[in-house]
Amino acid sequence: MSKLYDLAADEYETFVINQRFKNPAKETANIINELAHQDSKLLDVGTGSGIVLSEIRQLNPHLELFGLDNSFEVLELARKKGFELLIKSSLPNLPFLDNSFDFVTANFVLSHIDQYEKTIQEISRIIVPNGYFVFTSWGSGQKEYNKLFYNKVIDFISPEEHDRIIKQHLPNEELFEDNNSLTNILSKNNFKITKQYTKQYQLDLTLSDYLNCRFNLLIGKHMKKVLSPTLWEQFQQEMSAAFQEKVGQEITYKGNVDFFICKLESQV
Ligand SMILES: C[S@@+](CC[C@H](N)C(=O)[O-])C[C@H]1O[C@@H](n2cnc3c(N)ncnc32)[C@H](O)[C@@H]1O
Repeated sequence: MSKLYDLAADEYETFVINQRFKNPAKETANIINELAHQDSKLLDVGTGSGIVLSEIRQLNPHLELFGLDNSFEVLELARKKGFELLIKSSLPNLPFLDNSFDFVTANFVLSHIDQYEKTIQEISRIIVPNGYFVFTSWGSGQKEYNKLFYNKVIDFISPEEHDRIIKQHLPNEELFEDNNSLTNILSKNNFKITKQYTKQYQLDLTLSDYLNCRFNLLIGKHMKKVLSPTLWEQFQQEMSAAFQEKVGQEITYKGNVDFFICKLESQV
């Protein structure tokens, strides 16, 4: 797995985590806080720099918190936040005994995983009966900004190359477009969705902070790698000019996030 980000750790926290993942992670922490008891044990899969674990620890310092990711770099960021129970492993592999956890969380992870069915099956194996799997995914986003970004990207790389990179990193975006199929996979593995809802998050950002995030994730990161330094510079300048013309210097970023709370039914 390639490195998720090309930023120094503090920039990664500022431009990526704080912009995109922190508020939904807070919501996940609230959900867990309502369901957990003093000695609950929780695993956050695809934990990244541990933002979900941090938010949970703030609300509920007594829980035993584990994080799992397939990237050493991000686990190192989580370790620096004081987390020790960190496991490097690649989903769907979960190197734990059956019934090991009361909760498993996954904040924007499932769509990154090739074998999501196997992953859900494995998660159901390691959760205790009546335990919970809580996960999030992006709902419909800021289409206007995405379109502006995409239109400039394809001046520099082909649409096919763009789609290939998206597919490589997010092989299962469509999982969340078909609610029936997701519900079926969950119920096949004894999960019952006890609550599902969507929240909209709004962030007011400077154009430069917004683009800094996009230039360092997924497509932006790929372009930095494949374009010559001159073309990379030109791409950034033209993108910035396109946003300035259509949107201005201040960005209001609105993103919808879908939350799923699933209970593992005890089998008779
Ligand atoms: C969009 S990030 C979300 C990170 C974190 N949950 C958060 O909210 O900040 C997806 C995470 O999944 C991890 N990941 C992707 N594929 C994985 C796999 N097959 N096994 C384990 N982790 C994976 C990435 O390294 C990354 O940290």
